[in-house]
Amino acid sequence: MKSIDRDLVELSDLAPEAIRTLLHRADQMRTQQVPLWRDSVRHVGLIFAEPSTRTSLSFIAAIDRLGAYPLQLDAENSSFSKGETLLDTASTLESIGAESIVVRDGNEMSARSLADQCDAGVINAGGGTRAHPTQGLLDALTLLDEFGDLEGKTVGIVGDVLRSRVARSDIVAFQALGARVVLVAPDYFQDKTLSEAGVELESKLDDALPHLDAIQMLRIQKERGDGDPENNLQNYVRDYRLDERRLALARPSLVVLHPGPMNREVEITSGVADGPRSRIRQQVANGVPVRMAVLERALGQASG
Ligand code: NCD
Repeated sequence: MKSIDRDLVELSDLAPEAIRTLLHRADQMRTQQVPLWRDSVRHVGLIFAEPSTRTSLSFIAAIDRLGAYPLQLDAENSSFSKGETLLDTASTLESIGAESIVVRDGNEMSARSLADQCDAGVINAGGGTRAHPTQGLLDALTLLDEFGDLEGKTVGIVGDVLRSRVARSDIVAFQALGARVVLVAPDYFQDKTLSEAGVELESKLDDALPHLDAIQMLRIQKERGDGDPENNLQNYVRDYRLDERRLALARPSLVVLHPGPMNREVEITSGVADGPRSRIRQQVANGVPVRMAVLERALGQASG
């Protein structure tokens, strides 16, 4: 039986202390001599059934830096596109030697079901609208880099919360580090059930902004349905886009995050995305050490 500590399906499976430990290890990974493993051949399988740029590439970079090897499935040109199940695909990767499997799928339970059935350590690289644990960790690491500690800090998550797996994982990661989380969204993008997770819900960005230490702007998930019953993008942009005029309402120390991909000029203007308060490039860079730490754990390597 595999130790359950090797899987990462949702951050809520981890105690806050385990989240801190992973972030500490990610921080150490930045200064490790690479590749970390020189005298073993370890394979990691990657199955991306939904599009990805940052997540898939930084997993590959993390695998390289560890000294492991990727077995990367091309979902469109593999038997996956002939109807082979995800489990059969994962078993194939395991038979070839994958000791860990990274999976992104539109079905929010796919990673859980693979974790239950595979000997490999399973890492969820984004499941439906439910969880994106490595994104939650890299966003938390970016805020730790900025503030040292999140105790007493307030983080706003703004936009299409309803369909955001990033928001759900960010909430767990930020709260584990002691932050207060405010979800800012119009009614049609708000998820009221999340108030049970101890977050605050707010509908007006201009009211929330002056109280925030950091803000995570979300993309409208058009590929997951319409979402806005009024279908009025102009109103959304007017009330929720982070632009320079709106930024003037915030504390001068506010930092701006976005998980990418951005729809420039919709949820965020280029002036803000590329401006001095943006930590968006830092988020992408932090994806590599975070995924090194998560892969090390998934491969059952002792962490030092
Ligand atoms: C996000 C995702 O795929 O959930 N992107 C990412 O992994 N950085 C966010 C999004 O698609 O909007």
